Amino acid sequence: MRLSHPVPPPLDPEILGAAARDLARTGGITFLVGEDAVTYAVDGPTIRVDDGRSSGDTVVRLSRPAWDDMVGQVRTIINLLLSDDLAFERGGFEQLADWDPVLRYLHAGIPPYDPARIDLRGRDPFAAFTPDAQDAELAAQLDTMGYLHVKGVFTGDEMDAANREVDRLAAAARPGDDRSWWVTGEDGGHVLCRLVYATLRSPVLAALEGDPRVRRLGTLLDPALRAAPDRMEGSAVLLKVPGNTSGLSNIPWHQDCGMGGHAIMCPAVSVGIQLTGSDPSTGNLRVLPGSHGQAVHHRWEQRPEGVPVVSIDTAPGDVTVHVQDLMHASPRPTGAGGRRTMYVTHYPPAVWEHVGPGEAYNDLVRNRTEQVARLR
Ligand SMILES: [Fe+2]
Repeated sequence: MRLSHPVPPPLDPEILGAAARDLARTGGITFLVGEDAVTYAVDGPTIRVDDGRSSGDTVVRLSRPAWDDMVGQVRTIINLLLSDDLAFERGGFEQLADWDPVLRYLHAGIPPYDPARIDLRGRDPFAAFTPDAQDAELAAQLDTMGYLHVKGVFTGDEMDAANREVDRLAAAARPGDDRSWWVTGEDGGHVLCRLVYATLRSPVLAALEGDPRVRRLGTLLDPALRAAPDRMEGSAVLLKVPGNTSGLSNIPWHQDCGMGGHAIMCPAVSVGIQLTGSDPSTGNLRVLPGSHGQAVHHRWEQRPEGVPVVSIDTAPGDVTVHVQDLMHASPRPTGAGGRRTMYVTHYPPAVWEHVGPGEAYNDLVRNRTEQVARLR
């Protein structure tokens, strides 16, 4: 019997050719689902898909729901691995990871990230805007780059008030409270690195979340998007911990749908209110211009050549905006650390159909951040 599979979109032979060259050494991969099987293999300048059991160099067994989630872009291979929903009869995760961007192209038409194909339409990836810019101009920059930097959206007083609230929530947070993320600091102690569902416990932060300036930037690409205070970890405040931490304070290159949910949440838009401002010494945001809407190899950072990376410095009251599947990172602070950013993510309506209150794709990682960090 044929494995259920979405109807593939029209595929570009050049993209398949590049994938075939990349995968020549990895060899073919077979998925076993119950009694069914499908094999993907390099065939000269393209990728061939065969039904039935065959001799892939890598053989992966998974349940039918796991298979459906993988091809439907609901759960990623990292998600399936962390949930112990993958078993390797031959080969291992590295080979599956090599195939992953190509499988996402074959299953959902999401092209593998290739810097040579990025078109920045003559725009400046380092540009910063002010709030008096036209919506159309801001939207064009965000749509092209996958991110946007707007200066001076909030006043210093507004950010001071927000920081006092963050201090209050941070003082009340405890490891394991399911409302915060923690890392192990240099001295071996637990250090708070993220408050989640923050606006549910703070009217001041809730007012920021619902502020028309935030809503404007969160809906530049789609007026149907809206904030989700009670699910998907709600609005979260990042607190960058200095030094050599273990866990997920310093987040390596990732897409926010990296744990799954692409089909449901993308292209969500995150509005990052810069409570403290940021630069490399405090652990600022780094982005890959034009990388949104594409499938990126999970070890991308080991493969780059000539890839433009933009490091965004901000002042308190600035706002950064990013499309959730933009490749971005929050590296280790080179100095004192301490960047605070409140992220108000605006999601498409499908999120309310598929994700209940208190549920999030990050539930899988919140209490095992060290395990996830080791994976990277
Ligand atoms: Fe992120």
